[in-house]
Amino acid sequence: MPSTPTSAGGGDLRGLLISTRQRTLELTAAVKDEELERQIDPIMSPLVWDLAHIAAYEDLWLVHRGAGQPLLRPDLAALYDAFETPRAVRGEIAQLNAAEARDYLAEVRERSLDVAAQQTIDSEITEMVLRHELQHRETICQTLALAQLPSFDPGFREPTPAAPGKHSGLEFARIERGEFALGAGEDQFAYDNERPCRQISVEPFELGRTAVTNASWLEFIAEGGYRDQRWWSDDGWAWVTAEAVEAPLYWQHWESEQPLELTSCGSRQLDPDRPVAHVSYYEAEAFARARGARLPTELEWEAAAQWQQGAPADASTANVGQTSFDTAPVGAYAGGAADCGALDLIGNLWEWTATEFDGYPGFSPHPYPEYSQVFFRKGYRVLRGGSWATDGRIASPSFRNWDLPQRRQIFSGVRLARDLAQ
Ligand code: AVJ
Ligand code: FE
Repeated sequence: MPSTPTSAGGGDLRGLLISTRQRTLELTAAVKDEELERQIDPIMSPLVWDLAHIAAYEDLWLVHRGAGQPLLRPDLAALYDAFETPRAVRGEIAQLNAAEARDYLAEVRERSLDVAAQQTIDSEITEMVLRHELQHRETICQTLALAQLPSFDPGFREPTPAAPGKHSGLEFARIERGEFALGAGEDQFAYDNERPCRQISVEPFELGRTAVTNASWLEFIAEGGYRDQRWWSDDGWAWVTAEAVEAPLYWQHWESEQPLELTSCGSRQLDPDRPVAHVSYYEAEAFARARGARLPTELEWEAAAQWQQGAPADASTANVGQTSFDTAPVGAYAGGAADCGALDLIGNLWEWTATEFDGYPGFSPHPYPEYSQVFFRKGYRVLRGGSWATDGRIASPSFRNWDLPQRRQIFSGVRLARDLAQ
């Protein structure tokens, strides 16, 4: 069994901090220091910045704010604050090298474990620090995929289940009219943007049983979908023409007999049964329109994401937790099916929704406005469900991710929705 921590019971946070760190260090140990230190892509941080930022965040929240002690490195506070030092400049400024960043992580960790041994630290803050590192591990995977390092091997891969091979992403599950609770209840850890929880009623609609497959996407390309303005929004058309986009980010030779897909761990044949990955919101929207469908709203997505037995949270029922380092064929985790019959809502790939990221009615920032609030109503789109690179602890039915509509580095896929025929 994969050793990914799950959210079951809350558990031993200290143990989870330690096992999470071990994975972070293993993941980055598979990369040469010079690769960690360079900025691989202007939209991403140098990996060494992510590492030192993880340390700075832990020191700030657990040791400084949590226990009232001075920061270990006040001189680094601005450099590793995500807002004072935005991604665009992280490649150019002086910062810790890889060895120094690892030392910083280790020193902070010693301080935070000392603090935790001596006094009771707010478990919500500890959970936030743990999840911060887990989220940055996904960011690190995005950067590694962009880097296309030859023979990158994280050293701990588990194969995904085999393909059932009978889905296209164009079959639908029906969600009945009903009332449901949107957002996270008070009895669990949640980010501020998942609250307050409220009752929502949904009209009956249909949601894709699975994500859209590569086979379905190949048909869209073959029929000229990328050049057919009818399917594209104005912004999407401006983007697809300006960037001359013709296929998903990591596809190669898609017009040949042997199309390839680049993954974090090298290239493989494009698998018709895997979900199309690394498409922008604009591409997702155009594909949906070409199929007489649309993208789900995030309310619809969450209304469909209901499990009598509890949502999938580990690699036995969902492709989560950075164990596979790849997508799985759609529908491969039958045990993780939602009550409505939709498969892979949790894990495999994030799913673009039609909804712009905003606060729920009654939102209040907690514990800091820079987690969510500063991104509201700035054109970010909500993505739901988590990817293979998302920890099972993060990928809950209420978790809201967001990215800009043109972005493709995120582990994103497409699930369709449509109104019921009247
Ligand atoms: C929720 C994934 C959009 O990476 O910007 C990391 C998570 N917040 N550090 C991001 C986050 C602060 C965030 N996302
Ligand atoms: Fe961060």
